[in-house]
Order: sequence, then structure tokens, then C-alpha cells
Amino acid sequence: MRILGIAAYYHDAAACLVVDGEIVAAAQEERFTRKKHDPGFPENAIAYCLTESKLRPADIDYIVFYDKPFLKFERLLETYLAFAPKGFQSFVTALPVWLKDKLFQKSVITNELRTLWGKDTDWESRLLFSEHHLSHAASAFFPSPFQRAAVLTMDGVGEWTTTSLAVGSGNELNVHKEIHFPHSLGLLYSALTYYTGFKVNSGEYKVMGLAPYGEPRYATLIKDHLIDIKDDGSFALNMSYFNYCTGLTMTNERFHSLFGGPPRQPESRLGQREMDLAASVQAVTEEVVLKLARGVAKSTGEKNLCLAGGVALNCVANGKLLRENIFDRIWLQPAAGDAGGAVGAALGAYHIMLNQPRKVTDGLDSMKGSYPRIPNLAGGTRQSD
Ligand SMILES: [Fe+2]
Repeated sequence: MRILGIAAYYHDAAACLVVDGEIVAAAQEERFTRKKHDPGFPENAIAYCLTESKLRPADIDYIVFYDKPFLKFERLLETYLAFAPKGFQSFVTALPVWLKDKLFQKSVITNELRTLWGKDTDWESRLLFSEHHLSHAASAFFPSPFQRAAVLTMDGVGEWTTTSLAVGSGNELNVHKEIHFPHSLGLLYSALTYYTGFKVNSGEYKVMGLAPYGEPRYATLIKDHLIDIKDDGSFALNMSYFNYCTGLTMTNERFHSLFGGPPRQPESRLGQREMDLAASVQAVTEEVVLKLARGVAKSTGEKNLCLAGGVALNCVANGKLLRENIFDRIWLQPAAGDAGGAVGAALGAYHIMLNQPRKVTDGLDSMKGSYPRIPNLAGGTRQSD
């Protein structure tokens, strides 16, 4: 059974080829195009996967896309209706893109495959769709070295889900709990990323890197006004400070006056204030991650934890989590962001949709080190370090 997972059209496009449940090749499109976070159809990554596996396009049994476009459209529409007429500006901006491309993703992807691989094969009948957070959860659990584990996914937003808790066992993955848009730990972090003058969905790692230079002076302000955190780590954002449901920016005037001024202009000089803001959102994020993990350990009784989703790229929070010893063992999907969705889409289709068994070698994950194999001058390949 040969399954190609694809992530595309948002950010970090990627492809992954799974043969009989084994990851044979996986790559992110940006590595070929040199465009950071390249969101386009990952034709180079797909070509790489085929070359690496020595398969022809017609050998692929299923192509699985990492999220469900109709569910995303439903979120867009319902968000607009919930905030109407406030969100009209962002709705009319987004609508043409949705009508043109995203809503018709099945035909868009089929056309891409026809262009790439020819029209002789009925690609549409081989096309499947996975839910965004299921793709993340599958990417976290199925390649892990665990027979069973609690699986926590945290990111900005997929279709509706922003945080999910599942339990994985053998080839099964059962979702126990979800937190839905607009309440999102990833979007809170992105809001502070925007406010401190960095690019959303890209500069979050800079905020994390800036945090140790500051003091978490604003953490109480964030917890008093922006986010209500429960003991089990579940949370709700106070949307009256954010603009991402109704406008084209992350934060609004109320947010700006809460923190005493407008967002920092990108590329302008960084000051202590930005460092303190970074330290504050980092501290709040760590608090939520630790509380979520403790809540998950308590509610599931599981000894192992798997993590994925953009927030799981926060290695500082992950380090704290590891040192807290809440779980015996923790495994993180190395491509925890949307690129890893291609891995999860393919593995999820194999184990869940097609109900195929899963082999686990205790102590060893099945990511094969996640190292790229790059061509050398002699024409062979070598393992990159
Ligand atoms: Fe995601």
C-alpha cells in the first residue's frame, strides 16, 4: 500500500510517502524552492519522494491531503456570522480566495496532479482528506516508539480545533477533548508576535529567543485580561482584545492600550519592552502547556506523551515539560508544524481509514532520524549531518 501525504496552501507545504506503513521519504517544499514557509503545491517534494522510493506516480494507491477545506470554510462563515457585521472586511477579503481556490481544493489538487503526472489516471478517485488536528495527532503518535500514549496537539488553528487531546493505542487514535477556534494558544503567541513587530506564522521562534532577555512583567496582565486558564490547562481567550476574527490584524486598539502603545514597527529597534513582552507570553504559554500536560496525565492515566502542532515547536516549553517529569517518556514529532501534517495525513490514512496494523519497536521511533539524504558529487546519496 503506497500512500502520499500532502500539506499545502497555508504554510510549510510538504509531502511524505508511506509504503506499507513505513515512512520511505518526506520533505518540505521550501528546501527545494528556497522560499521560507513555501505554501505552494509541493511538486518538488513529491518528485523527491517518488525518486527516493523509485516509484512511478501510477504506483501510488492514495493521495491524502492534510486538512478538510469545507470545514475551514464553515469556520470562516460561522465566525463571520457570530461577529457580524463586524467581520465583514475580513470576510470579503477572504471570500474570493476561498471561492477561487480553497473551496474547490479537490479539483485544484486533481488538476495539479494531472499537470504533474498526466491525465491517464483517475487521480480524483485516489484522493482522500484528513482533518488538520488528526493529521497532527497521527504525525505525533504513529511514528512514536510507544504502543500507547496520550497525544496532545496545540497550534494556531486547523479547521475548528486549536488544541486536541487524544489517546493512541496500537493503530487507533481516539480524540477525547478539543478546544475550538477562536480560543487558541498558538494565536495568543502569534498575537504577541505581531505586537512585538515580528511576522505571524514565522517570527514566533524569535519571540521565544527574545524571552530570556526580558522579565515576565506583563504575564499577570495577560492572564487577567487576555486568557482565562483553568486548572486542567483548558483556556478561553477574551476576544474583545483580538482582531483576527473580525479584521485583518491580530490585535486591536483595546489590546494596544492595555499594553501602553501601538505594535512595534517591523525592523525598528528592539527595546526592553519587547523583551519583557516576549518573556511574558512565553511564561504564560509554559504555564498552559504544563497545566495541559498535568490534566492529560490525570484524565488518561497514560505514562507516555506525544506532541505535535505549531506550539510543540516551542522547545523551551518542551524542555520545561520534560524536566517536570509529568510523563515517563515524551516523544515529539520533529516536523511538529504543518509540514508534519503530510506525515500524519499519510500515516493516519494507512492506520485509521484503511485499518492497517502498526508495528512498534520499543525504544525506537520510525522517523529514521529525520535526516535529509542529499546527492553527492559522485551521483549517490549520503546522510546529511
Ligand atoms: Fe497546524
